[in-house]
This record gives sequence, structure tokens and C-alpha cells, in this order.
Amino acid sequence: MNEDLVERAESDPQRPRYHFTAPGGWLNDPNGLGQWQGTYHLFYQYNPHAAVHGRIHWGHATSQDLVTWNDEPVALVPSDDGPDRDGCWSGVLVDDQGTPTLVYSGNRDGRQLPCVATGSADLRTWVTDPGNPVIDHPPPGLDVTGFRDHCVWRESGHWRQLVGSGVTGVGGTALLYDSDDLREWRLVGTLLVGDTNERDRTDDYWTGDMWECVDLFRPPSLEPGGPASDVLVLSACDDVSLHHALYLTGTYAGDHFDPVALERLDLGGSCFYAPQSFTDEGGRRVMFGWLQEERPEASSVAAGWAGALSVPREVTLGVDGALWQAPVREVASLRSEPVVGAVGVLDQGRRIALGSGVAVDVELVVRLEPGAVVEVAVRATPDDEERTVIRLARGTADDAGQVRLELDRSRSTLDPAVEALERQGLVPVGLDGSVALRVLVDHSALEVFANGRALASRTYPTRDDALGVQLVLTSGSAVLDSATTWVMRDIWSGPRTLWPSVDG
Ligand code: FRU
Repeated sequence: MNEDLVERAESDPQRPRYHFTAPGGWLNDPNGLGQWQGTYHLFYQYNPHAAVHGRIHWGHATSQDLVTWNDEPVALVPSDDGPDRDGCWSGVLVDDQGTPTLVYSGNRDGRQLPCVATGSADLRTWVTDPGNPVIDHPPPGLDVTGFRDHCVWRESGHWRQLVGSGVTGVGGTALLYDSDDLREWRLVGTLLVGDTNERDRTDDYWTGDMWECVDLFRPPSLEPGGPASDVLVLSACDDVSLHHALYLTGTYAGDHFDPVALERLDLGGSCFYAPQSFTDEGGRRVMFGWLQEERPEASSVAAGWAGALSVPREVTLGVDGALWQAPVREVASLRSEPVVGAVGVLDQGRRIALGSGVAVDVELVVRLEPGAVVEVAVRATPDDEERTVIRLARGTADDAGQVRLELDRSRSTLDPAVEALERQGLVPVGLDGSVALRVLVDHSALEVFANGRALASRTYPTRDDALGVQLVLTSGSAVLDSATTWVMRDIWSGPRTLWPSVDG
């Protein structure tokens, strides 16, 4: 690890301070998430040598509270001549009768195969299995688009595993395997197969040629007695791009998944990608996703770092049968003194100041009449030259039960090289048109939560005074019921720890 990389990374004004980042270099997917004897463990796809996707290692960090982290020694380093010679790709952590065990994808010669590593009791040192790869090849006779990433669980005294894949020309899939010992695997079959030709590749619901980072789980209900469903999360990609994370609700039974509905996991397009989730000791389902950079690679390379993780999201199943996502309650422990905004009936065009900062948590409840449009601006300069706008627009008449959530980045930055695409999606509202909005601003990271729907994005304002948070009603009528802004503190208590990686 190059110390200069860390120094540069730490001095970059775009670097998030309460979203997880690597000490320097490149980060992509969250891996091996879990809580082990009280301690939270987070591993991640990591290139310690440069802010580009290279020979991927597994970085590692631990936490007692899910939000403040300690850097741990690099957990997996690509071997000199093993099946993971060209990278240790994504995977999971499981408890094999007390032995911490990683199941991950060894990358070699452009192909990936399942590998296993076992850990010391403190999960700090890892030994790869001499039998790696534990599955030698994708299922013979199936023309696959890929074969990587793992979801592993215990079921009826056996291990079960999903490997992300796709059938060429047909669609993405998850291959289901069964094992007694995590070393010998029997193919059960395809859990289900998507349809790559059903929609256009530019469609927000396109299910891809290949499913990366498949994650099968049963979320708790948001409300006692609420509906129950299994959920299969997938990250849809093709040869050219990583498209987006989607999920299916439905039933996993008898070696198959019977889907009921297909949903977008996050309304921010490809920004929130390759999420992974786990059940913590308190029974919560907690998910992290990779927040991809949306500035040019050359800017990341110059800055010495790339990639952040979302804040941990607690996911539950809402009364409408869709996932409800919210930052875990521990995120609120990072808040400092609150700034409370004036509430009441909003006058059209009158701006309400809601505090300021580069790292803030904004929480408000606003009731929109049909046809109302409310805008919340963050990272706004006093002269409006830069501003990022989160717009809530309630439909009229027939679609009054929905609010369109839009992220308008047309004036987010003066840097013309940065991604400025608009993002949008629908958010359900009740009869009173009330939206509970939470906006997490953290330097270049932005996460919006509106009535349980999430939208993650990146913005890269250039001006030091791009700090303002404001709210304005631009059309129709609305009432602001509450509005509070907190400046957020840094999750790192001291300088980032540099662990020498074995390969220098
Ligand atoms: C998803 C992904 C995975 C792969 C890893 C490699 O972002 O492409 O499919 O295992 O990243 O870093």
C-alpha cells in the first residue's frame, strides 16, 4: 500500500466522511458481511495499489456499532499461482461449526470459480483451501455468460449456495448447489432464469445478461402481522456495463424461486450496485451497497481513491409487499446539534433555509396536496451556481397515490466531466400525501430515502460554499410538518491504518 495514495485520498474534498471508504485505492462490492460474537465485520473488493479495478484483494474492517469502523489487515491477497491469481472476487462469510469461512470467486485468466478460505477466531488471518477451486467449472452443457459471486446458507442440515450466472441469449440466472461440507458441491439446477429479451437494455427494469451478487433472504415485516415474502436481489449487467440492482419478491421452495413482482432496489440507476445483506444478532436484515463513482476515472486516480459504500440500510417488507429501506438507527448517533426549521403551510416560491454543511442528515415530513411540487436543494451555493435538487411531485387525480421522486443534478457541479443524468422513480403515499424524507449528504455521496424507497447518487460540487440546504414549494399546496438538519461527524476516530499487504 502506497502511503502517498492515502494522503491524497484523505485530502480530497470529495471524499465521504461518514460513508465507508477504503484507506486509499479502489473499493467496489461489500463482501463477507456479518456479525461475529458481537463484532460487525465488513470485507470489500479492494485494490490497495491504485484507484482502479485491478488485482482485487479483500479489504477488511470491524465495528461495534455498524457505523464507526477500524481498518483491519487485508484478509485475502491474490495467490502467486492459484485459482485466485488474478483477483479474489466477491463472496460471503459463513459460520462452519465455529470456523469463520469465506466463500468467494477466484479470478484467473478472465474466468471465475468458487473458492473457500478459513479464518482465525478473530477473523484477521485467512488460509485458502488447498482444494480450491471447490467447483471446477460451470455446469457442463450450459452456455453461461458468467459464473461468480455467492450466497450461502444452511438448510435442512445441508449447505446451499447460489452462484450468479446467466444463460447466453436467454437471461440472467442463479445456479443452486448443495453440499455437506462447503467443499464438495452438487448442482441442483437453476433457481430461476430471467428473460434478457423481455425489455430494452435501457429500461430501468431490464434484468440483464448476467446476474451478479445474487442475495436470497426473507426480510422481517415492517409492521407486525405484515405480509411475508422471500426476496432475491440481483445486480444486472452485460459485457459493457453494470446496469442496476433489482429484486424479485416471491417464494423460494422446492429448489425454485416463484417470482411475484420485480422491483428496482434503488432509484439511483447504476450508482448503488452489488449490494449484500446479512441478519445481525438482533434479527435485523442489514444491507450495504457499493456507491460507484460518477466522475471520470482520471479524477479518481488523481484523488487516490475510488468507491464508497452506502450507509447500512435496514430492510424490511412493507405492507405493500415491497422492500422498505431506511438507514439503521445507529446512523443517528453521528448527528451533532440539530437545526430545526420553521414548519407550517408553505408559501409558493418562498425558500426555507434548513441549515448547511458538506456532511448533513436532513429529516423532514411534508404533506403534498395532489399536484404539489416541493424541492429540497442540498450542496447549494448562495448564488445558486451549484445546487443539487431533490424534487417531490405528487400526481393529480388517478395517480395521486404516488409521488415522483426526482434527483436533478443539472446544476450539481461546474465540472462538465461529471455525470449529471437525472434519476427518478415513484414513491407510494397515503391519502394525506405525506412523505417522510431523509437526505444524507456526505461530500460526494448522497442517499435519499422517501417513504421507504431509496435513491443513491454522487455529486461533485466544485465550490467551497456549496453548503446550503433549502426547501421550496414550486407549485400547488403543501404543509411542512417537521424539518431538522444535523451536521454529521466523521466515522474514523483517527488516521486510517495502513496494513502492509503481503504482496507489498
Ligand atoms: C460486481 C462484480 C462481481 C465480481 C466483483 C469483482 O461489481 O463485478 O460480479 O465478483 O465485482 O470485483
